[in-house]
Amino acid sequence: MQNTSATPQSARRVLTGITTSGTPHLGNYAGAIRPAIQSSTEPDVDAFFFLADFHALIKCADPARVARSRMEIAATWLAGGLDTERVTFYRQSDVPEIPELCWMLTCVTAKGLMNRAHAYKASVDANQLKGEDPDDGVTMGLFSYPVLMAADILMFNAHRVPVGRDQIQHLEMTRDIAQRFNHLYGGGQDLFVLPEVQIDEEVATLPGLDGRKMSKSYNNTIPLFEGGAKALKSAIAQIVTDSRLPGEPKDADASHLFTLYRAFASASQAASFKTALEGGLGWGEAKQALYEQIEAQIGPMREPYAELMAHPERIEDILQAGARKARGIAVPFMDRLREAVGLRQAAPVAGKKAGGVKAAKARLVSFRDEDGRFRQRLFAADGTELLLSEAFDDPKLLNQVSRGLAGADLPMFPVDAQGYVVLGSSEHCWARVPADQLANVRAALRQI
Ligand code: TRP
Repeated sequence: MQNTSATPQSARRVLTGITTSGTPHLGNYAGAIRPAIQSSTEPDVDAFFFLADFHALIKCADPARVARSRMEIAATWLAGGLDTERVTFYRQSDVPEIPELCWMLTCVTAKGLMNRAHAYKASVDANQLKGEDPDDGVTMGLFSYPVLMAADILMFNAHRVPVGRDQIQHLEMTRDIAQRFNHLYGGGQDLFVLPEVQIDEEVATLPGLDGRKMSKSYNNTIPLFEGGAKALKSAIAQIVTDSRLPGEPKDADASHLFTLYRAFASASQAASFKTALEGGLGWGEAKQALYEQIEAQIGPMREPYAELMAHPERIEDILQAGARKARGIAVPFMDRLREAVGLRQAAPVAGKKAGGVKAAKARLVSFRDEDGRFRQRLFAADGTELLLSEAFDDPKLLNQVSRGLAGADLPMFPVDAQGYVVLGSSEHCWARVPADQLANVRAALRQI
């Protein structure tokens, strides 16, 4: 398998996204955001978390809501303690290479595979039941949803994708699509890693007020930050329980109030809560205990959340830095994929033109800088300066390092924390190049 970035081979690349079409509720936090932040602190985990805002357009045609949701979900990750120095945290729509890859994948995806997607089939079934045209209200966005998701995952060659059970089929489709692309274009090498789905058995799907899965579509959610502690408390008061009175023993395992409690408690706290319920704890008191337990975790996050929401430019800065990091990988990888499918830049014509006029060629110019050290400038065939190298004490070494790059596979070089591609030999950095300049640098180096 190919390693296309600075990530050590041993590190496991974990990637997951959240569709930005609503306000995050307690279920989103405990079921997805909290475990993801937790896993990103493990050694050897190289985490990619993103806001799936292109996916949001499939479900939601309300621009204000999409815009607000992106901010709310970003602020939730940040208030929840995400370390954005350590992970790559970005917005899907800030990485234009993702829709570009999506198109390449679309062209190798069998329509029959998409016909089998659960979400699409559910719409068709519902239409048929109503006696409507089977494709009534079905957009190409909905139909191709799994291909965009495959692009999200394959763009960064994720090894592991933590998601809910409803996403298992999408991961299977991603593997199918990746395999087909590897087969068609890999030329014996795997361009894409086949990702594994990760279903966290520990992280139970949180039940909502009525005991069904907590979901906006069931209108049974408990708010995370919206409305403050008061709204949390009044939502908890609405949790449906059985009619057993205080003093009567309760069946904790059958109660979704207990399931909610467990999601915010340690094993020993959960055990004593269970004993108390079995010993006849009244539902009113149980709700108060649940409220206190959740508030102890959520309460301290309210202020950082409100602070971020009051300063959207801070969120924006963090997301832009994340996009640079993500593109540091996506741009050179895309360059390689374009090449693989045949979208190559024409090879430069070297030597003399028919008329005897010398064709312009890229140039590498060596010189001594003000400190007396040796550097090179690389110029494109049209004369634009592409880069200034690092300074070397030894001109021979400088020459040797730059000459070594002439035929190199540039997308294989590491990317630094600022998103620059570090070109050079294994011991010496020759120059740092923004990822989107790599194609030009490569074209120029080929002519040297
Ligand atoms: N489809 C996912 C959901 O609705 C969100 C998502 C989009 C995603 N792209 C992804 C999840 C890539 C994991 C990886 O939950």
